[in-house]
Amino acid sequence: MSNPPWTCPVCAARLTPTTDGRSWHCLNRHSFDVARQGYLSLMTGARHPLGDTATMVRARADFLAAGWFEPIVATIAELIRRWETATFHNGPSAGESRPWLADLGGGSGYYSVELLRQLPGWRGALVDASTNAVKVAARAASRLTASGQPPEARPVPKHDPSTGEEPGLAGACADDWPGMSSHGGPRLAVACADLWAGVPLATNSIDIALDIFAPRHPAEIGRVLRPVGLAIVVTPRPDHLHQLRQSLPLMGIEADKESRLRQQFSDFRLVEHQIIEYGCLLPTQAIAQVISMGPNGFHASADQIAAMAAGLSESGPINTRVAVDVWGFGDGAGGQDERHRPGEHHHIADEVVTKSG
Ligand SMILES: C[S@@+](CC[C@H](N)C(=O)[O-])C[C@H]1O[C@@H](n2cnc3c(N)ncnc32)[C@H](O)[C@@H]1O
Ligand SMILES: [Zn+2]
Repeated sequence: MSNPPWTCPVCAARLTPTTDGRSWHCLNRHSFDVARQGYLSLMTGARHPLGDTATMVRARADFLAAGWFEPIVATIAELIRRWETATFHNGPSAGESRPWLADLGGGSGYYSVELLRQLPGWRGALVDASTNAVKVAARAASRLTASGQPPEARPVPKHDPSTGEEPGLAGACADDWPGMSSHGGPRLAVACADLWAGVPLATNSIDIALDIFAPRHPAEIGRVLRPVGLAIVVTPRPDHLHQLRQSLPLMGIEADKESRLRQQFSDFRLVEHQIIEYGCLLPTQAIAQVISMGPNGFHASADQIAAMAAGLSESGPINTRVAVDVWGFGDGAGGQDERHRPGEHHHIADEVVTKSG
């Protein structure tokens, strides 16, 4: 199987691309276009804008690109490698059975792109309801190479001078794009869809489903995962970025989020629970990005955000504290290491992270 396992949001049948890769259709003749920017549009019904706004997406993408949440990527990459070793023993097998990563509510694609860079045998499918986010994700996907290495030596998609548009993955099955895997389709396929309407991926098609700070639909996650598959769910702990929350109307984090999460995933088995905690000395610009990527991005002006950020930049290290929960099925067929039992907390970094630039 080289095509991403997209399914029809109307009738749930498998979607296949036209030969030019410009649209996808099911056997019931429902058809969906690939947008010029390279994402597959699977939105149906009322065209309400959903998900993050352009300002929020840009702020989040810039903040993430600076690497402030890189320890989260490293933790997930390590979890996936361990699963891979336990499941495939000698790494992923070639051809048809290459593993699939789904990034649900994947936003600008930061996590899936970074993970696919580190996991060359893998392919990904990102779903997000925000057209602003999937445009950015499709562009990032087009820069992802088969090997995971930077694309310098590879063919670059043609830039259209008439529109000034950056190219995305024009056709999901074209074979001249740098983001292609060695056997055809793009390494990271991107779709715009509403997860509450269902995950537009085939039953039993996904090896690892990521849900990072995004809406969760556990029944659908369970359906799309293979029996050996895992869901990796990242949620903020109540004191995540608390130094900023104390002074700003950032979105609150429910105190009972963890018990609610466990209830939501009660049909799964908790394979592993980690807490990632570290401090960051965030520069003013990064604080402004954190403010802009949350609900404040809707309400406050750029000047107000800049003033709030300036006021907070002297306040010392800002704590990142998130939970990474790994959910599987059965008796541990996901092959998790016996040393990492649910309920155990791993503080992966206690030092304060600082960055320049
Ligand atoms: C807090 S952001 C996290 C994005 C990404 N996982 C990350 O951490 O960078 C939440 C994401 O969920 C998306 N989202 C919100 N509601 C959604 C829905 N109903 N279906 C799909 N995506 C949705 C938003 O557009 C946004 O990109
Ligand atoms: Zn259909």
